[in-house]
Amino acid sequence: MDSEKRCSVRLLVFGASLRQGSMNDRLASLAATVASEKGATVERATMTDFECPPYDMDVELSAGIPAGAQALHDKLISVDGFMIASPEYNASMPGVLKNTIDWVSRFRPQPINGKQAYLMAASPSMTGGKVGLWALRQPLEHLGARTYPDMFALAQAHHAFNDAGRIADTKLQSWFEMTIECFIDLVEASKHYPHLKKQWVEFLGERPDEETTRVEAGETAAV
Ligand SMILES: Cc1cc2nc3c(=O)[nH]c(=O)nc-3n(C[C@H](O)[C@H](O)[C@H](O)COP(=O)(O)O)c2cc1C
Repeated sequence: MDSEKRCSVRLLVFGASLRQGSMNDRLASLAATVASEKGATVERATMTDFECPPYDMDVELSAGIPAGAQALHDKLISVDGFMIASPEYNASMPGVLKNTIDWVSRFRPQPINGKQAYLMAASPSMTGGKVGLWALRQPLEHLGARTYPDMFALAQAHHAFNDAGRIADTKLQSWFEMTIECFIDLVEASKHYPHLKKQWVEFLGERPDEETTRVEAGETAAV
């Protein structure tokens, strides 16, 4: 699609590693560059912006939701979608990312609901961290994110980037750019044709109840 004709698409892009020199942060930077080139407005962040103490309901009730989760919430409500480049730890997502997702899930309205999501991973392994992305899909989709079907896993990431920060394998770089453009097209389409399902119900069959507090009050919609 001609990016000049695009309606505004706002994306949050971050890597989910805390360490300096993270390969996933490099991949997030590349994704942010490509998304900008394809016409999106990009908000860049790092996992350190969103770091939270371990989720504890006693802490939530006494001290409220921590600043890291508040920061992610505030960014999410200002965008149409988000792109995460996440490390794979032991065939799953990093605990720090799941922990922040758990804290963010406590806001009402719950800000992940209805957002478009694109998942990426970078790893020195041959599988590129793809298994961890399947684990990451689960809480995101549970929370109502519309997760893009293709996920990008950069294998042997320690050798994958060139000096310009692009993927040295030009075919892989082209494929990466194409899928990001398709993702942005989908985000744009979702703004023109919003899905009927707006209300987030964590467990089908639940109704608003003080005990569960998991159902958002809102207009009735197809669920
Ligand atoms: C605790 C731990 C578990 C890991 N488990 C996996 C794994 O299951 N699969 C994999 O591909 N890499 C695994 N790795 C290697 C990471 O992919 C590698 O450290 C990578 O550089 C982390 O991403 P980052 O560079 O963005 O920090 C693991 C690393 C650590 C520290």
